[in-house]
Amino acid sequence: MNKQMKHAALLLAVLIGITGCASAGGQGADAGTAGGKRQVVNVYTARHYEVDSALFRDFTERTGISVNEIKGTPEELVEKMRQEGGLADLFVAVDGGSLQLAKQSGVLQPMESEVVKRQVPAQWRDSEGYWTGIASRSRVIVYAKDRVRPEELSTYEELTDERWRGRVLARSSASLYNQSLLASFIRLHGEAAAGAWAKGIARNLARQPEGGDRAQAKAIADKVGDVAIMNTYYIGQMLASQDPGEKEIADKIGVFFPNQETTGTHANISGIGLAKHAPNRDNAVRLAEYLTSPEGQTLLINGSYEFPVNASADMPELLRSWQQHKRQELDIAGLGNLHERAAVIFERSGWK
Ligand code: FE2
Repeated sequence: MNKQMKHAALLLAVLIGITGCASAGGQGADAGTAGGKRQVVNVYTARHYEVDSALFRDFTERTGISVNEIKGTPEELVEKMRQEGGLADLFVAVDGGSLQLAKQSGVLQPMESEVVKRQVPAQWRDSEGYWTGIASRSRVIVYAKDRVRPEELSTYEELTDERWRGRVLARSSASLYNQSLLASFIRLHGEAAAGAWAKGIARNLARQPEGGDRAQAKAIADKVGDVAIMNTYYIGQMLASQDPGEKEIADKIGVFFPNQETTGTHANISGIGLAKHAPNRDNAVRLAEYLTSPEGQTLLINGSYEFPVNASADMPELLRSWQQHKRQELDIAGLGNLHERAAVIFERSGWK
């Protein structure tokens, strides 16, 4: 190829890049073919929701940047990042404690993006920029609509009352969600009160814990128990499910936001952090900016039924009806430091 032809080919590539991008949402001209090298971003994710793949596809369509998803538990991924050094670009997790673990393990670096800062309120970001929330979720009490009136419910603590004996459902205490919940009680009320609560719930359980949050909803529909502790978004996903069986279960269940008159409902986050040695740093930042943008957030929450961190997201009616509630005012990531204590307290409580 002579010099002139090379120049023409380059110009053509740039033009394809520009028009390709403009038609896919006008995200800028430095598309995937920049420099002739295929653009990628390596995402190490502990999330397990179908919508994430749709989000990454949409991001690729808009930018030309391919997303490689590497899945694992937060601990596995952090360890992998530590051993590999420079392969991961973006870390994704579903618990503030996991984001804290990644930060404290030294596998993240602060993300300098004014766009992300503008799109995500400070309450959902690490003050030093090591991670940012992309969605929030609340851990609530759900109840059998035909056997429990919402007026009978008030707080997490009240579920330890004798009148709930044999009626409470919850997943295993080994779950990160329950550990963060108990950690929040340790922070709010101290270890003794947190221990009394765990014991009280263990005493009132309708059965030994089995299955995830969805399984507790099913157990309510099957009349195994009357109330359960679970995350809001599972109910949203079940109501929107293509599986009529799931929808039927969710239709029988009411959602109650506890502790509105006291310390607030327990909230947690899904979040992301820039890998310390990210080889595709700019692409990772662009993905972070996309995930927190109104478009990305709208797609995310309409699939996962988590709450958006960007108020400009277009919320489905169900989420709008749930959105306004008092949440615990706690350093969510800091709760990660209390997980070990929570595990010890659970162990003593008899909550398996
Ligand atoms: Fe989940």
